[in-house]
Amino acid sequence: MERLRVVGGARLSGTVRVFGAKNSALKLMAATLLAPGESKITNLPAIADVDYMAELLTRLGCSVKVNNELHEVIIAVPKKLGHRADYDLVRKMRASINVLGPLIARELVAEVALPGGDAIGSRGLDFHINGLKDMGAEIHSEHGFVIARASNGIKGAAITLEFPSVGATENIMTAATLATGRTTIDNAAREPDVVDLGEFLIAMGAKITGLGTHTITIDGVKELKPATHATLADRIVSGTWAFAAAMTKGDITIENGRVDHLEVPLDKLVEAGAVVTTTSNGFRVKMDKRPIAVDVATLPYPGFPTDLQPMVIALNAIAEGTSLVTENVFEGRFMFVNELLRLGANIQVDGHHAAITGISELSAAPVAATDIRAGAGLVLAALASDGITIIEDAYHIDRGYPDFPVQLQSLGADVTRV
Ligand code: EPU
Repeated sequence: MERLRVVGGARLSGTVRVFGAKNSALKLMAATLLAPGESKITNLPAIADVDYMAELLTRLGCSVKVNNELHEVIIAVPKKLGHRADYDLVRKMRASINVLGPLIARELVAEVALPGGDAIGSRGLDFHINGLKDMGAEIHSEHGFVIARASNGIKGAAITLEFPSVGATENIMTAATLATGRTTIDNAAREPDVVDLGEFLIAMGAKITGLGTHTITIDGVKELKPATHATLADRIVSGTWAFAAAMTKGDITIENGRVDHLEVPLDKLVEAGAVVTTTSNGFRVKMDKRPIAVDVATLPYPGFPTDLQPMVIALNAIAEGTSLVTENVFEGRFMFVNELLRLGANIQVDGHHAAITGISELSAAPVAATDIRAGAGLVLAALASDGITIIEDAYHIDRGYPDFPVQLQSLGADVTRV
Protein backbone atom coordinates (compact mmCIF):
# COMPACT_ATOMS: atom_id res chain seq x y z
CA MET A 1 0.00 0.00 0.00
CA GLU A 2 1.60 3.26 -1.10
CA ARG A 3 -1.20 5.76 -0.49
CA LEU A 4 -4.45 5.99 1.37
CA ARG A 5 -7.32 8.18 0.27
CA VAL A 6 -9.40 9.29 3.22
CA VAL A 7 -12.65 11.22 2.91
CA GLY A 8 -13.32 13.25 6.05
CA GLY A 9 -16.58 13.62 7.87
CA ALA A 10 -17.82 10.09 8.64
CA ARG A 11 -18.93 9.17 12.16
CA LEU A 12 -17.40 5.76 12.76
CA SER A 13 -19.71 3.23 14.29
CA GLY A 14 -19.81 -0.53 14.66
CA THR A 15 -17.60 -3.31 15.98
CA VAL A 16 -13.97 -4.07 15.24
CA ARG A 17 -12.03 -7.14 16.29
CA VAL A 18 -8.51 -6.72 17.60
CA PHE A 19 -5.89 -9.46 17.11
CA GLY A 20 -2.55 -10.06 18.80
CA ALA A 21 -0.13 -7.21 19.45
CA LYS A 22 2.62 -6.60 16.92
CA ASN A 23 5.05 -5.86 19.71
CA SER A 24 4.24 -9.17 21.40
CA ALA A 25 3.93 -11.41 18.35
CA LEU A 26 7.34 -10.46 16.92
CA LYS A 27 9.09 -11.10 20.25
CA LEU A 28 7.27 -14.41 20.73
CA MET A 29 8.40 -15.47 17.26
CA ALA A 30 12.03 -14.52 18.04
CA ALA A 31 11.88 -16.37 21.38
CA THR A 32 10.96 -19.66 19.68
CA LEU A 33 14.66 -19.78 18.71
CA LEU A 34 15.41 -20.76 22.31
CA ALA A 35 14.05 -24.31 21.92
CA PRO A 36 14.65 -26.81 19.12
CA GLY A 37 11.37 -28.29 17.87
CA GLU A 38 8.02 -26.91 16.79
CA SER A 39 6.47 -23.92 18.56
CA LYS A 40 3.17 -22.34 17.64
CA ILE A 41 2.04 -18.75 18.12
CA THR A 42 -1.68 -18.08 17.74
CA ASN A 43 -3.81 -14.90 17.63
CA LEU A 44 -1.19 -13.57 15.23
CA PRO A 45 -1.89 -10.21 13.53
CA ALA A 46 -1.78 -10.26 9.70
CA ILE A 47 0.80 -7.48 9.33
CA ALA A 48 3.89 -6.93 7.22
CA ASP A 49 6.29 -7.12 10.20
CA VAL A 50 5.23 -10.72 10.91
CA ASP A 51 6.34 -11.65 7.39
CA TYR A 52 9.68 -9.89 7.91
CA MET A 53 10.24 -11.77 11.17
CA ALA A 54 9.26 -15.05 9.43
CA GLU A 55 11.91 -14.36 6.77
CA LEU A 56 14.52 -13.55 9.41
CA LEU A 57 13.85 -16.81 11.29
CA THR A 58 13.94 -18.74 8.01
CA ARG A 59 17.40 -17.37 7.26
CA LEU A 60 18.51 -18.49 10.72
CA GLY A 61 17.59 -22.05 9.74
CA CYS A 62 13.96 -22.35 10.92
CA SER A 63 11.07 -23.59 8.85
CA VAL A 64 8.27 -21.03 9.29
CA LYS A 65 4.64 -21.40 8.23
CA VAL A 66 2.51 -18.28 8.65
CA ASN A 67 -1.22 -18.89 8.21
CA ASN A 68 -3.04 -15.55 8.08
CA GLU A 69 -6.45 -17.17 7.83
CA LEU A 70 -5.93 -19.13 11.04
CA HIS A 71 -3.95 -16.24 12.56
CA GLU A 72 -1.10 -18.49 13.55
CA VAL A 73 2.49 -19.33 12.80
CA ILE A 74 4.27 -22.64 13.27
CA ILE A 75 8.02 -22.36 13.65
CA ALA A 76 10.23 -25.45 13.47
CA VAL A 77 13.55 -24.57 15.09
CA PRO A 78 16.62 -26.68 14.21
CA LYS A 79 19.17 -28.02 16.73
CA LYS A 80 21.87 -25.83 15.22
CA LEU A 81 20.96 -22.25 14.29
CA GLY A 82 22.59 -19.72 12.03
CA HIS A 83 23.72 -16.66 13.95
CA ARG A 84 23.66 -13.78 11.50
CA ALA A 85 20.76 -11.38 10.96
CA ASP A 86 21.40 -9.29 7.84
CA TYR A 87 20.79 -5.60 7.34
CA ASP A 88 18.28 -5.92 4.48
CA LEU A 89 15.77 -7.47 6.90
CA VAL A 90 16.83 -5.91 10.18
CA ARG A 91 16.58 -2.39 8.77
CA LYS A 92 12.89 -2.97 8.05
CA MET A 93 11.98 -3.48 11.67
CA ARG A 94 13.44 -2.70 15.05
CA ALA A 95 12.08 -5.93 16.58
CA SER A 96 14.78 -7.87 14.69
CA ILE A 97 17.10 -6.98 17.55
CA ASN A 98 15.07 -9.42 19.64
CA VAL A 99 16.91 -12.36 18.06
CA LEU A 100 20.09 -11.20 19.83
CA GLY A 101 19.16 -12.61 23.28
CA PRO A 102 18.00 -16.03 22.03
CA LEU A 103 20.99 -16.40 19.65
CA ILE A 104 23.64 -15.57 22.23
CA ALA A 105 21.91 -17.89 24.72
CA ARG A 106 21.78 -20.84 22.34
CA GLU A 107 24.74 -20.40 19.98
CA LEU A 108 26.98 -18.25 22.22
CA VAL A 109 27.51 -16.04 19.19
CA ALA A 110 25.29 -13.57 17.40
CA GLU A 111 25.82 -11.07 14.61
CA VAL A 112 22.88 -8.75 14.19
CA ALA A 113 22.84 -5.76 11.86
CA LEU A 114 22.18 -2.49 13.65
CA PRO A 115 18.42 -2.07 13.36
CA GLY A 116 16.44 0.54 11.51
CA GLY A 117 12.73 0.52 12.14
CA ASP A 118 10.87 3.74 12.61
CA ALA A 119 12.49 7.13 12.34
CA ILE A 120 11.41 8.23 15.81
CA GLY A 121 14.63 9.09 17.61
CA SER A 122 18.07 7.71 18.29
CA ARG A 123 16.95 4.36 19.77
CA GLY A 124 20.34 3.18 21.00
CA LEU A 125 21.23 -0.36 21.99
CA ASP A 126 23.48 0.48 24.94
CA PHE A 127 21.13 -0.98 27.57
CA HIS A 128 20.88 -4.27 25.63
CA ILE A 129 24.63 -4.42 25.14
CA ASN A 130 25.61 -3.47 28.70
CA GLY A 131 23.20 -6.06 30.10
CA LEU A 132 24.56 -8.86 27.93
CA LYS A 133 28.13 -7.79 28.73
CA ASP A 134 27.32 -8.08 32.45
CA MET A 135 26.28 -11.65 31.64
CA GLY A 136 29.68 -12.47 30.19
CA ALA A 137 29.26 -11.64 26.50
CA GLU A 138 31.93 -9.75 24.63
CA ILE A 139 30.27 -7.29 22.32
CA HIS A 140 31.49 -4.83 19.75
CA SER A 141 30.13 -3.27 16.60
CA GLU A 142 31.80 -3.72 13.25
CA HIS A 143 30.72 -2.77 9.73
CA GLY A 144 27.18 -2.02 10.88
CA PHE A 145 26.77 -5.21 12.90
CA VAL A 146 26.53 -5.86 16.64
CA ILE A 147 28.83 -8.84 17.19
CA ALA A 148 28.35 -10.72 20.46
CA ARG A 149 30.36 -13.72 21.69
CA ALA A 150 30.14 -15.57 24.97
CA SER A 151 33.01 -18.05 24.72
CA ASN A 152 32.72 -18.94 28.41
CA GLY A 153 28.93 -19.15 28.39
CA ILE A 154 26.23 -16.75 29.57
CA LYS A 155 26.12 -16.24 33.32
CA GLY A 156 23.44 -14.78 35.55
CA ALA A 157 24.02 -11.19 36.69
CA ALA A 158 22.35 -8.41 38.66
CA ILE A 159 21.43 -5.75 36.09
CA THR A 160 19.88 -2.35 36.69
CA LEU A 161 18.56 -0.63 33.59
CA GLU A 162 19.04 3.13 33.28
CA PHE A 163 15.58 3.36 31.72
CA PRO A 164 12.87 0.65 31.69
CA SER A 165 13.58 -0.20 28.05
CA VAL A 166 11.18 -2.73 26.54
CA GLY A 167 13.68 -4.22 24.09
CA ALA A 168 16.58 -4.39 26.57
CA THR A 169 14.39 -6.08 29.21
CA GLU A 170 13.31 -8.63 26.59
CA ASN A 171 16.80 -9.41 25.26
CA ILE A 172 18.26 -9.77 28.75
CA MET A 173 15.32 -11.89 29.92
CA THR A 174 15.53 -14.27 26.95
CA ALA A 175 19.32 -14.63 27.23
CA ALA A 176 18.97 -15.26 30.98
CA THR A 177 16.61 -18.22 30.52
CA LEU A 178 19.53 -20.44 29.46
CA ALA A 179 22.26 -18.75 31.55
CA THR A 180 23.98 -20.40 34.47
CA GLY A 181 22.63 -18.99 37.72
CA ARG A 182 20.28 -16.16 38.57
CA THR A 183 19.71 -12.90 36.69
CA THR A 184 17.81 -9.98 38.16
CA ILE A 185 16.66 -7.07 36.02
CA ASP A 186 15.95 -3.98 38.09
CA ASN A 187 14.02 -1.05 36.64
CA ALA A 188 12.63 -3.59 34.15
CA ALA A 189 9.95 -2.63 31.63
CA ARG A 190 6.43 -3.52 32.83
CA GLU A 191 4.67 -3.37 29.43
CA PRO A 192 2.07 -6.13 28.88
CA ASP A 193 4.16 -7.23 25.87
CA VAL A 194 7.07 -8.04 28.20
CA VAL A 195 4.73 -10.00 30.48
CA ASP A 196 3.35 -11.89 27.47
CA LEU A 197 6.86 -12.85 26.36
CA GLY A 198 7.75 -13.91 29.92
CA GLU A 199 4.67 -16.12 30.08
CA PHE A 200 5.62 -17.80 26.81
CA LEU A 201 9.13 -18.41 28.16
CA ILE A 202 7.63 -19.92 31.32
CA ALA A 203 5.49 -22.22 29.12
CA MET A 204 8.76 -23.26 27.45
CA GLY A 205 10.18 -24.21 30.85
CA ALA A 206 11.91 -20.99 31.93
CA LYS A 207 11.98 -19.99 35.59
CA ILE A 208 10.87 -16.37 35.78
CA THR A 209 9.23 -14.35 38.56
CA GLY A 210 8.31 -10.69 38.93
CA LEU A 211 6.81 -10.16 35.46
CA GLY A 212 4.91 -6.87 35.34
CA THR A 213 6.91 -5.48 38.29
CA HIS A 214 10.08 -3.38 38.44
CA THR A 215 12.24 -6.42 39.21
CA ILE A 216 12.26 -9.56 37.09
CA THR A 217 14.20 -12.59 38.34
CA ILE A 218 15.27 -15.37 35.99
CA ASP A 219 16.90 -18.61 37.13
CA GLY A 220 18.68 -20.18 34.20
CA VAL A 221 17.75 -23.70 33.09
CA LYS A 222 19.72 -26.17 30.92
CA GLU A 223 17.22 -26.26 28.08
CA LEU A 224 13.79 -25.09 27.01
CA LYS A 225 11.12 -26.98 25.11
CA PRO A 226 8.84 -25.72 22.34
CA ALA A 227 5.40 -24.39 23.33
CA THR A 228 2.16 -22.97 22.01
CA HIS A 229 1.07 -19.50 23.04
CA ALA A 230 -1.76 -17.09 22.16
CA THR A 231 -0.55 -13.52 21.53
CA LEU A 232 -1.94 -10.87 23.82
CA ALA A 233 -4.49 -8.48 22.24
CA ASP A 234 -2.95 -5.32 20.79
CA ARG A 235 -3.49 -2.46 23.23
CA ILE A 236 -2.16 0.15 20.79
CA VAL A 237 -4.51 -0.93 17.99
CA SER A 238 -7.36 -1.04 20.56
CA GLY A 239 -6.39 2.44 21.75
CA THR A 240 -6.28 3.73 18.17
CA TRP A 241 -9.88 2.62 17.65
CA ALA A 242 -10.86 4.29 20.93
CA PHE A 243 -9.37 7.60 19.72
CA ALA A 244 -11.04 7.09 16.31
CA ALA A 245 -14.44 6.94 18.05
CA ALA A 246 -13.68 10.04 20.13
CA MET A 247 -12.49 12.05 17.12
CA THR A 248 -15.37 11.22 14.77
CA LYS A 249 -18.25 11.56 17.24
CA GLY A 250 -18.44 7.83 16.78
CA ASP A 251 -19.47 4.72 18.66
CA ILE A 252 -17.03 1.80 18.35
CA THR A 253 -17.05 -1.52 20.18
CA ILE A 254 -13.57 -2.96 20.38
CA GLU A 255 -13.78 -6.74 20.57
CA ASN A 256 -10.90 -8.28 22.55
CA GLY A 257 -9.82 -4.80 23.74
CA ARG A 258 -8.39 -4.83 27.28
CA VAL A 259 -9.36 -1.83 29.44
CA ASP A 260 -6.87 -2.99 32.08
CA HIS A 261 -4.04 -2.37 29.60
CA LEU A 262 -5.29 1.09 28.62
CA GLU A 263 -6.22 2.71 31.91
CA VAL A 264 -4.47 6.06 31.41
CA PRO A 265 -5.46 6.58 27.73
CA LEU A 266 -9.08 5.66 28.43
CA ASP A 267 -9.15 8.01 31.45
CA LYS A 268 -7.92 10.74 29.11
CA LEU A 269 -10.72 9.98 26.65
CA VAL A 270 -13.28 10.21 29.45
CA GLU A 271 -11.74 13.56 30.44
CA ALA A 272 -12.16 14.58 26.77
CA GLY A 273 -15.87 13.77 27.01
CA ALA A 274 -16.13 10.19 25.74
CA VAL A 275 -18.19 7.48 27.40
CA VAL A 276 -16.23 4.27 27.88
CA THR A 277 -18.00 1.09 28.92
CA THR A 278 -16.80 -2.48 29.20
CA THR A 279 -18.54 -5.21 27.21
CA SER A 280 -18.50 -8.99 27.64
CA ASN A 281 -15.31 -9.35 25.56
CA GLY A 282 -13.92 -5.87 25.15
CA PHE A 283 -15.02 -2.27 25.51
CA ARG A 284 -17.02 0.45 23.78
CA VAL A 285 -16.18 4.12 23.24
CA LYS A 286 -18.91 6.60 22.38
CA MET A 287 -18.65 10.34 21.80
CA ASP A 288 -21.42 12.73 20.88
CA LYS A 289 -19.72 16.12 21.03
CA ARG A 290 -16.53 17.93 20.16
CA PRO A 291 -13.70 16.60 22.39
CA ILE A 292 -12.29 18.74 25.20
CA ALA A 293 -8.50 19.23 25.06
CA VAL A 294 -6.46 16.99 27.40
CA ASP A 295 -2.88 17.32 28.67
CA VAL A 296 -0.78 14.18 28.31
CA ALA A 297 2.79 13.12 29.13
CA THR A 298 4.01 9.86 27.60
CA LEU A 299 5.75 7.47 29.98
CA PRO A 300 6.70 3.80 30.18
CA TYR A 301 3.81 1.48 31.05
CA PRO A 302 1.48 1.95 32.89
CA GLY A 303 1.85 5.60 31.82
CA PHE A 304 0.36 7.03 28.63
CA PRO A 305 1.98 5.05 25.76
CA THR A 306 4.22 6.92 23.34
CA ASP A 307 2.63 4.78 20.59
CA LEU A 308 -0.69 6.62 21.15
CA GLN A 309 0.90 10.06 21.24
CA PRO A 310 0.07 10.88 17.58
CA MET A 311 -3.55 9.94 18.29
CA VAL A 312 -3.86 12.25 21.29
CA ILE A 313 -2.20 15.11 19.37
CA ALA A 314 -4.66 14.55 16.52
CA LEU A 315 -7.55 14.60 19.02
CA ASN A 316 -6.29 17.78 20.67
CA ALA A 317 -5.88 19.39 17.23
CA ILE A 318 -9.69 19.37 16.84
CA ALA A 319 -10.59 19.70 20.52
CA GLU A 320 -12.05 22.63 22.40
CA GLY A 321 -9.30 24.42 24.29
CA THR A 322 -5.53 24.27 24.51
CA SER A 323 -3.36 21.41 25.67
CA LEU A 324 0.20 20.35 26.28
CA VAL A 325 1.53 16.98 25.13
CA THR A 326 4.94 15.97 26.46
CA GLU A 327 6.94 13.18 24.81
CA ASN A 328 9.26 11.48 27.29
CA VAL A 329 10.13 8.26 25.45
CA PHE A 330 11.13 8.96 21.82
CA GLU A 331 12.65 12.33 21.01
CA GLY A 332 11.85 12.20 17.28
CA ARG A 333 8.19 11.46 17.54
CA PHE A 334 7.02 15.02 16.93
CA MET A 335 8.06 14.76 13.26
CA PHE A 336 4.46 13.84 12.70
CA VAL A 337 3.37 17.30 13.86
CA ASN A 338 4.69 18.83 10.62
CA GLU A 339 2.18 16.73 8.72
CA LEU A 340 -0.66 17.84 11.00
CA LEU A 341 0.34 21.46 10.38
CA ARG A 342 -0.31 20.79 6.69
CA LEU A 343 -3.87 19.95 7.72
CA GLY A 344 -4.16 23.37 9.35
CA ALA A 345 -3.57 22.28 12.97
CA ASN A 346 -2.36 24.92 15.41
CA ILE A 347 0.61 23.31 17.19
CA GLN A 348 3.87 24.73 18.56
CA VAL A 349 6.67 22.31 19.36
CA ASP A 350 9.39 23.22 21.81
CA GLY A 351 11.81 20.40 22.60
CA HIS A 352 9.74 17.53 23.89
CA HIS A 353 6.59 19.60 24.45
CA ALA A 354 3.83 20.31 21.96
CA ALA A 355 1.32 23.08 22.73
CA ILE A 356 -1.89 22.58 20.81
CA THR A 357 -4.80 24.95 20.29
CA GLY A 358 -7.78 23.06 18.97
CA ILE A 359 -9.61 24.20 15.84
CA SER A 360 -13.09 23.03 14.89
CA GLU A 361 -12.14 21.27 11.66
CA LEU A 362 -8.91 20.30 9.92
CA SER A 363 -8.37 21.15 6.27
CA ALA A 364 -7.70 18.15 4.00
CA ALA A 365 -4.29 18.14 2.27
CA PRO A 366 -1.68 15.67 0.99
CA VAL A 367 0.45 14.35 3.88
CA ALA A 368 3.01 11.58 4.46
CA ALA A 369 3.23 8.89 7.14
CA THR A 370 6.63 8.88 8.87
CA ASP A 371 6.12 5.76 11.00
CA ILE A 372 3.39 3.27 11.90
CA ARG A 373 1.72 5.28 14.64
CA ALA A 374 2.14 8.64 12.88
CA GLY A 375 0.42 7.02 9.89
CA ALA A 376 -2.53 5.88 12.00
CA GLY A 377 -2.70 9.32 13.68
CA LEU A 378 -2.86 10.96 10.25
CA VAL A 379 -5.74 8.68 9.23
CA LEU A 380 -7.68 9.83 12.31
CA ALA A 381 -6.86 13.48 11.56
CA ALA A 382 -7.92 12.99 7.94
CA LEU A 383 -11.25 11.53 9.10
CA ALA A 384 -11.81 14.77 11.03
CA SER A 385 -10.94 16.96 8.01
CA ASP A 386 -13.21 18.74 5.59
CA GLY A 387 -12.40 16.90 2.37
CA ILE A 388 -10.14 14.29 0.77
CA THR A 389 -6.71 13.64 2.27
CA ILE A 390 -4.11 11.53 0.48
CA ILE A 391 -1.62 9.90 2.85
CA GLU A 392 1.69 9.02 1.18
CA ASP A 393 4.03 6.27 2.45
CA ALA A 394 1.05 4.52 3.92
CA TYR A 395 2.97 1.19 3.84
CA HIS A 396 4.08 2.15 7.34
CA ILE A 397 0.51 1.58 8.54
CA ASP A 398 0.48 -1.98 7.16
CA ARG A 399 3.40 -2.78 9.45
CA GLY A 400 1.18 -2.50 12.50
CA TYR A 401 -2.52 -2.35 11.61
CA PRO A 402 -4.04 -5.46 10.02
CA ASP A 403 -6.48 -4.59 7.22
CA PHE A 404 -6.81 -1.01 8.45
CA PRO A 405 -8.70 0.38 5.41
CA VAL A 406 -11.06 -2.61 5.40
CA GLN A 407 -11.80 -2.23 9.10
CA LEU A 408 -12.33 1.53 8.70
CA GLN A 409 -14.76 0.90 5.84
CA SER A 410 -16.69 -1.57 7.99
CA LEU A 411 -17.19 1.28 10.48
CA GLY A 412 -18.56 3.57 7.77
CA ALA A 413 -15.43 5.50 6.73
CA ASP A 414 -14.61 6.19 3.10
CA VAL A 415 -10.97 5.02 3.05
CA THR A 416 -9.35 3.35 0.05
CA ARG A 417 -5.90 2.34 -1.10
CA VAL A 418 -4.79 4.18 -4.21
N1 EPU B 1 17.00 3.36 24.61
C1 EPU B 1 18.33 3.63 24.72
N2 EPU B 1 19.21 2.58 24.76
C2 EPU B 1 18.79 1.29 24.66
C3 EPU B 1 17.41 1.02 24.55
C4 EPU B 1 16.53 2.09 24.52
O1 EPU B 1 18.73 4.78 24.83
O2 EPU B 1 19.64 0.39 24.71
C5 EPU B 1 16.04 4.48 24.61
C6 EPU B 1 15.32 4.62 23.29
O3 EPU B 1 16.05 5.39 22.38
C7 EPU B 1 14.03 5.29 23.72
C8 EPU B 1 13.76 4.70 25.10
O4 EPU B 1 15.02 4.20 25.54
O5 EPU B 1 14.23 6.65 23.84
C9 EPU B 1 12.73 3.59 25.15
O6 EPU B 1 13.07 2.56 24.26
P1 EPU B 1 12.58 1.05 24.44
O7 EPU B 1 13.79 0.20 24.39
O8 EPU B 1 11.67 0.94 25.60
O9 EPU B 1 11.73 0.85 23.12
P2 EPU B 1 11.88 -0.29 22.03
O10 EPU B 1 12.01 -1.62 22.67
O11 EPU B 1 12.86 0.13 21.01
C10 EPU B 1 9.31 -0.79 21.92
C11 EPU B 1 8.29 -0.82 20.84
C12 EPU B 1 7.92 0.59 20.41
C13 EPU B 1 7.40 1.34 21.64
C14 EPU B 1 8.45 1.29 22.75
C15 EPU B 1 7.98 1.94 24.03
C16 EPU B 1 8.82 -2.84 19.68
C17 EPU B 1 9.33 -3.49 18.46
N3 EPU B 1 8.81 -1.53 19.69
O12 EPU B 1 10.46 -0.16 21.35
O13 EPU B 1 6.87 0.47 19.47
O14 EPU B 1 7.15 2.67 21.27
O15 EPU B 1 8.80 -0.08 23.04
O16 EPU B 1 6.82 1.35 24.49
O17 EPU B 1 8.38 -3.48 20.63
C18 EPU B 1 5.66 0.93 17.53
O18 EPU B 1 5.07 -0.14 17.72
O19 EPU B 1 5.27 1.77 16.67
C19 EPU B 1 6.83 1.24 18.34
C20 EPU B 1 7.71 2.17 18.00
